[in-house]
Amino acid sequence: MNTQVKIAPSLLSANFAKLEDDVRACELGGADMLHLDIMDGCFVPNITFGPLIVAAVRDVTTLPLDCHLMIVQPDRYIEQFAQAGAQWISVHVEVCKHLHRTLSLIQSCEARAGIALNPLTPLEYVFEAAPHVDFVLMMCVNPGFGGQEFISSVLGRIERLRSWLEREQIEIPIEVDGGVHRNNAATLIESGASVLVAGAAIFNGGTIAENIAALRRATER
Ligand code: DX5
Ligand code: ZN
Repeated sequence: MNTQVKIAPSLLSANFAKLEDDVRACELGGADMLHLDIMDGCFVPNITFGPLIVAAVRDVTTLPLDCHLMIVQPDRYIEQFAQAGAQWISVHVEVCKHLHRTLSLIQSCEARAGIALNPLTPLEYVFEAAPHVDFVLMMCVNPGFGGQEFISSVLGRIERLRSWLEREQIEIPIEVDGGVHRNNAATLIESGASVLVAGAAIFNGGTIAENIAALRRATER
């Protein structure tokens, strides 16, 4: 078993009327962390939830919480998300005018600082920011909604990023988000990803435990 691979169910596709049940099912099913999508209706066309829900999830699980901030002014809310229990916090480079300041703010809150890149955002952002980041989140769909189709051109980007990180001897995880399913999990891992975010693949059909297990098996191929 590849113990390095982490599976992070995206609660965006969970049943919000039974969120505690779904969170516990993820934990019992062997999830490594939980991915929480924060959307503001401005950076992305959708609106989700804020620190209140993150804190509610924090109360019912010991899994690390990974908050993906798809919001235009992340600096205004980072401390609140950290206080609510987020241990991993990623911000989109497309909105950060003062990226170093934002990453420093996340780290000053004792959280891991990640940079998220949309599918066509230049990798040069990572090359500049790598010394200051704890993980990179590579979007494999346009952010905003669950259940979208994987954009296959991101595979080449992930490979290029992994090669660059290896050359520079920088050890930070690459998280992939959007359109991740059991049919592309192995390819994503081979390309260099080590954290798989999955929403539809885990919550849409079947049981959560079976779906996590199937995704895990797919990474071991
Ligand atoms: C999309 C979100 C994703 C989303 C992934 O903007 O960042 O985390 O929940 O959902 P699936 O796995 O269904 O593509
Ligand atoms: Zn996400």
